[in-house]
Amino acid sequence: MSTWANLGLQDSASPLMEQLIFFHDHALLILVMITVLVGYLMFMLFFNNYVNRFLLHGQLIEMIWTILPAIILLFIALPSLRLLYLLDEINEPSVTLKSIGHQWYWSYEYSDFNNIEFDSYMIPTNELATDGFRLLDVDNRVVLPMNSQIRILVTAADVIHSWTVPALGVKVDGTPGRLNQTNFFINRPGLFYGQCSEICGANHSFMPIVIESVPVNYFIKWISSNNS
Ligand code: CUA
Repeated sequence: MSTWANLGLQDSASPLMEQLIFFHDHALLILVMITVLVGYLMFMLFFNNYVNRFLLHGQLIEMIWTILPAIILLFIALPSLRLLYLLDEINEPSVTLKSIGHQWYWSYEYSDFNNIEFDSYMIPTNELATDGFRLLDVDNRVVLPMNSQIRILVTAADVIHSWTVPALGVKVDGTPGRLNQTNFFINRPGLFYGQCSEICGANHSFMPIVIESVPVNYFIKWISSNNS
């Protein structure tokens, strides 16, 4: 999760988020180079006293400063497309989680395991434990196995919500009447926090997501203890 003064991206907990961070840094580097170059050129314009009254055209320079930006854009567009298709790939998931957005809480269904279902509400500040995270902890966490391919199906019951967990690189809208799909792979144990990120009404800020990533045998224990 994000803590004080963390203005950048959160540490990734999945291979796709790692790729997203690499792409972000790559695009930012190109952006900084262009900004510095253009900034320098504009600044130096203040000190230019030379004027050529007979300058009407410059075919060569026009060619260069048209084609060069197009080539630079290709260096962003091609890795971006690679990531886009990588994010869309479903790699034979071993668990499917269904997540339904409500005003204002999430509910979950494990359709593979005798259809376990539960609601996940934010813990109100006055009921929070001393080590709890305000506006972020929930009463029922989503338990998922680490090192496994997980498919998530997102929908909503009333208005549009968005199931968003930054550390996993997941952000999917839950739309009433639709079922959206994505996948992720958690590569370490821990708690991963997320929030709804579609403005869904008065308590939009108060429907967080907590994922508890555990080793596979613990997950099997958890799922069988819920299977009565
Ligand atoms: Cu649900 Cu914002």
